[in-house]
Amino acid sequence: MIAAMDISIRKAERSKLQDLNQDNIPFGKYFSDHMLEADYENGEWKNIEIKPYQPLLMDPSLAALHYGQAIFEGIKAYKGIDGKPYIFRPHDNFKRFNISAERMQMPQVPEELFMEGMRKLVELDQNWIPSKEDHSLYIRPFMFSSDPLIGVRPSDTYKFLIILSPSGPYYSAPMRIYVEEKYVRAVTGGVGYAKAAGNYGAAMYATAQAKLKGYDQVLWTDPFEHKYVQEIGTMNVFFIIGNKAVTPDLSQGTILGGVTRMSSMTVLKDMGFTVEERPISVDELMDAYKAGLLHEVFGTGTAATISMIKELRYKDFVMQFDVENWKTAPGLKKRLTDIRERRAEDKYNWMLKV
Ligand code: COI
Repeated sequence: MIAAMDISIRKAERSKLQDLNQDNIPFGKYFSDHMLEADYENGEWKNIEIKPYQPLLMDPSLAALHYGQAIFEGIKAYKGIDGKPYIFRPHDNFKRFNISAERMQMPQVPEELFMEGMRKLVELDQNWIPSKEDHSLYIRPFMFSSDPLIGVRPSDTYKFLIILSPSGPYYSAPMRIYVEEKYVRAVTGGVGYAKAAGNYGAAMYATAQAKLKGYDQVLWTDPFEHKYVQEIGTMNVFFIIGNKAVTPDLSQGTILGGVTRMSSMTVLKDMGFTVEERPISVDELMDAYKAGLLHEVFGTGTAATISMIKELRYKDFVMQFDVENWKTAPGLKKRLTDIRERRAEDKYNWMLKV
């Protein structure tokens, strides 16, 4: 067990906050004054310190750079209308972090280190939470293997860090999505359910190909038949079909179990939808579209929040949506924002007071 007092704090001499242009905060480009860093050595976590944000010194043989033992999380802190800082469902990200760690043969990060380290860091840098609409403080916990050794084996040493990035929207406009039927993101038995860094690197080629065709992201399909949909870019996907909200189920281990996905299912039920988690085929989507029953398509994610999809293309079949007249995705986004910013009752106890 790591008690809160074991996390030492070394403060920056000068805050960089006054250098931040509050009118232009792109996602993930700027970082707050401090970061948390901890080392795993000889089976235990040590050197746990919150210190000024700074570069890391690393050996060129660092194992993570060669074999990709690297995982991360994405969490957001918001400023409530009471002016106080709150973090959205961090314990769910903590649990998923250790699921990813297990799959990548990395050590577990103790709850106290992850949760109390994050809380203290956000408390210290709370002035970095932007107040602007659609903005928040993005929290990025991550861990990588740090042995200076290029033999292929799990590392003996690891680094765990948390950095904070004041951020605006990840996807600012409704998106055009290409249904992928050549490349795959994840297979049954693979690492699709883990938030492994390599999942994102491996997606870049297919995404770049889709961009050349004029699309923003791909909707991944199953690796066997390219028939069942999985997830979009950095988001889970929801379809409003008739009066149901439908999202792919997680049973194949190919889809990241998003915290925003879980929260969206809960809020959609509150909004009166029947929510179904089940396999969804591209054929079903095209049939529903032709029958006028596919009303809305949107992505959910920590960075992305709720992102509307205005076009979905499968081979030569193009499904277009009149996002201006949608009610569900904007309604869901508003409900989540209201809970996060303390305008609505937090009846599920999602917000952690810093
Ligand atoms: C998140 O939503 O936190 C993500 O994982 C997206 C990130 C890769 C930008």
